[in-house]
Amino acid sequence: MVYKIAVSGRKGGVGKTTVACGLASVFASQGQRVLIVDLDPQSNTAYVLGTDPTAAGTAQLLLGQPSIPIKALENLHVLPGGPDLTSYGVQSSDPEDLADVVESLDYDVILFDCPPGVEYLERLGLVAADIALVCTNAHPLAVMGAGRVINELNARQQKGRRGARRYALVLSMIDLRRSMDQALDAQLVSAYPHTKRLVVRQDTTLAWASAERVPVMEYDPKCKGAEDLQKIAEWVKDA
Ligand SMILES: Nc1ncnc2c1ncn2[C@@H]1O[C@H](COP(=O)(O)OP(=O)(O)OP(=O)(O)O)[C@@H](O)[C@H]1O
Ligand SMILES: [Mg+2]
Repeated sequence: MVYKIAVSGRKGGVGKTTVACGLASVFASQGQRVLIVDLDPQSNTAYVLGTDPTAAGTAQLLLGQPSIPIKALENLHVLPGGPDLTSYGVQSSDPEDLADVVESLDYDVILFDCPPGVEYLERLGLVAADIALVCTNAHPLAVMGAGRVINELNARQQKGRRGARRYALVLSMIDLRRSMDQALDAQLVSAYPHTKRLVVRQDTTLAWASAERVPVMEYDPKCKGAEDLQKIAEWVKDA
């Protein structure tokens, strides 16, 4: 079974790339062959994993041009994002194009790191995935962004369209010393009573792993963030 996971949230800076790269690192550390597909013109994913963010990647794959996933670790490969994702060719692609093209790729886990705001790129990931992780921090605008993604997932499902059918909310950067963070879980239970909630605590080690461009399981597999990401990986595999 191949796990195809979109990490989304719509709002910027809520920890999507940290969750996507962290999960990639967790699955790779468990011996799975992992590909992470960056859908963000900012191209942060390849950078965070210590590879070249300017290399050919997702845009070229979508446009039928040469693009070879870059090796970050023995069993962790990356397709970088980049400004070509805003080209006319990608903008006019069909929402199912990425889903079709990744079907022929041979990996155990494929993660899609969705961008903030850019809905046609986010949609490529949501449609190609079977599972969506919808990230929000405690800020009301982030909760609103996550709600928009959930509405889109539900609408697609109701219309019988292709795309992620199983999804969870990821409460990201949580620090329970902050009152806004304390209130978030109750707020999400009331708005989405049937939706699984997963947590990634605020963790400086996790931020340092990104800044130093080392996959978190190589950097510090015992840090709080790595613990939380391993629990998310378990939820994914519990399907
Ligand atoms: N759990 C966490 N603990 C501490 N810092 C975190 C955590 N998650 C993310 N960060 C930090 O917050 C910043 C934004 O994180 P990240 O890039 O993962 O967000 P994003 O949603 O992918 O952003 P964008 O919308 O720009 O793609 C980064 O500096 C990252 O290191
Ligand atoms: Mg990001």
